Amino acid sequence: MHSKEQISHDEYQQTADWLMSQTKHRPQVAIICGSGLGMLADTLKCQDSFPYSDIPGFPQSTVKGHAGRLVFGELKGKTCVCMQGRFHMYEGHSLCKTTFPVRVFKLLGVETLIVTNAAGSLADGLQPGDIMIIKDHVNFPGLVGLNPLSGPNDEKFGPRFPAMSGCYDKGLRCLAKEIAKQLGVAGLMHEGVYAMVGGPTFETIAEARLLHRLGVDAVGMSTAPEVVMATHCGLRVFGLSLITNKVVKSYEDSDSVNHDSVLEVGRLRSQTVQQLVTELISRMEIN
Ligand code: 6GU
Repeated sequence: MHSKEQISHDEYQQTADWLMSQTKHRPQVAIICGSGLGMLADTLKCQDSFPYSDIPGFPQSTVKGHAGRLVFGELKGKTCVCMQGRFHMYEGHSLCKTTFPVRVFKLLGVETLIVTNAAGSLADGLQPGDIMIIKDHVNFPGLVGLNPLSGPNDEKFGPRFPAMSGCYDKGLRCLAKEIAKQLGVAGLMHEGVYAMVGGPTFETIAEARLLHRLGVDAVGMSTAPEVVMATHCGLRVFGLSLITNKVVKSYEDSDSVNHDSVLEVGRLRSQTVQQLVTELISRMEIN
């Protein structure tokens, strides 16, 4: 399943070429929308959209709350491409399939990647409905060898041993905090560490306690592989986690998390996440 299957430079290029033959948009910014956060794509102007099933080489998305299409368009004067629905390791995709779109974005000329996700909170100060700017991540699958860069390195994209310190751009994180203040949502905003676990199971109480003690603020089942691939090929990255629930850390607590409650909070706060991302795109500098 999570095999060492490789995708050649040609295969990424063929998908990029096909997309460029279908749309006149040449995106500078790519956005990957997490569970319940795909509405941003609907706000793009002069849209060209492509169901994943129509795009040569693209994997298919199988999760409820993830529409499964690529939308090109203008947002505040910048050209964007938006993934409405992402791919997850737990769907059974290899990590190079999961991250396939990221390298296609690079070949389309994208310079900045914005990732959003839904996550459970471990930090006491992070409540459902809060928004966490991702400062850093712990890539648990990566630590045990499930890394999208495993296998022969493609030097055309980046180096064999890429640094991952500083992979969440500091300038964009500062700008996002400024924007949150101006939008009057600074009270909802935090900054912290996101950990990716493989899923699809949510955490046991013992696992939650372990993550908490390790300094993880929020946990989810995505994002790290895409950010690894993006950083490898030199994209600037910004990430936001929408906190949809608190992870159960106590045996006294009878609550448990489910996917519908994750989607529900996504819908409640999606407007705010959308505003933040829109303002960020509007105000970010593009080379
Ligand atoms: Cl509690 N755990 C994980 N792994 N992912 C989540 C989540 C929890 N809540 C939303 N996504």
